[in-house]
Amino acid sequence: MDPRSEVLLRQADLFQGDLLLAGLPADDLLAQLPTAHGWSWHAGEQHTLLTRFGERSHFGTQAPERAFSAAVLFLPKSRELTAYLLQALAARLGGGLLYLVGEKRAGIERAAKQLAVYGKPRKLDSARHCQLWQVSIDQAPAVPDLDALAQRYELQLADGPLQVLSLPGVFSHGRLDRGSALLLEHLDGLPGGHLLDFGCGAGVLGAVLKRRYPDSCVSLLDVDAFAAASSRLTLAANGLEGEVICADGIAAAPSELTAILSNPPFHQGVHTHYQASEDLLRQAREHLNKGGELRLVANSFLTYPPLIEIHLGPCRTLGKADGFSIYSARRG
Ligand SMILES: C[S@@+](CC[C@H](N)C(=O)[O-])C[C@H]1O[C@@H](n2cnc3c(N)ncnc32)[C@H](O)[C@@H]1O
Repeated sequence: MDPRSEVLLRQADLFQGDLLLAGLPADDLLAQLPTAHGWSWHAGEQHTLLTRFGERSHFGTQAPERAFSAAVLFLPKSRELTAYLLQALAARLGGGLLYLVGEKRAGIERAAKQLAVYGKPRKLDSARHCQLWQVSIDQAPAVPDLDALAQRYELQLADGPLQVLSLPGVFSHGRLDRGSALLLEHLDGLPGGHLLDFGCGAGVLGAVLKRRYPDSCVSLLDVDAFAAASSRLTLAANGLEGEVICADGIAAAPSELTAILSNPPFHQGVHTHYQASEDLLRQAREHLNKGGELRLVANSFLTYPPLIEIHLGPCRTLGKADGFSIYSARRG
């Protein structure tokens, strides 16, 4: 059981009735709180919740339509995303209670100050390295306009400017990551056909790919609903077509790809997490045509080349700068 869930269950009597658990972990909490519903934006966790709890778990960037009289937000990593989610929940809770739970090392003490917009926050519990806070929503705010919270920046490319839009909580929100910038300098000679941007975030790599290889079909995949929504905004802002898939890991990617391009994930929440990247290196072969290429950027200290060579084929280093390397391997 996630320690944040354990903290809620220490006062389970508070969490009966029409409760919404936003950003909940994929553990046993919905079984322990049988009248509660969940709201997830992580496709992997949603898959687990859906399998166990069916329609009791809602997925997406917007709060579920159904009514709820109290809500708990599991603190996400980003301050901007926390602000959006608190407002989205408070907007539906006039006269109700809004709770915030999170780990101390994730910054719950600081985040609790964000509750003060809605009333006077009260700390209810501190245990398992977590804290639980509560605020009573006397006056519900307006429902936030998520698209209006997108940050936009412009990239100057050889073939003209490209607009990039990112929603709160999305990787490298409002700016281009240095690793991604290096990968964008190494896009020559990809085998055209069906290209995938794995872990697409705001969709910058996928959008540039579509501009560079207009006759190719481009798919963009990310586990996070806010990233998938950002990618759709980025494609639309540039009049580009692409298939956006919100799913967990390379296993959910199309097959018969001619190339996979990625700045793969290496953090998840406050925990370092390489599983999705290792799965990408191990399973890329199953999604690539013969001769298909995996091209990625990674921190040079990550020992990816041996894994790539075991699972795909000889690995070339196409470039190196600022502690990042560009690796390329083709399926033999
Ligand atoms: C380093 S970021 C790169 C984002 C974007 N491609 C860029 O260059 O700005 C990695 C992305 O992988 C996504 N990700 C993390 N775990 C994933 C998984 N299991 N399946 C698919 N995407 C995942 C994250 O949400 C994040 O957007």
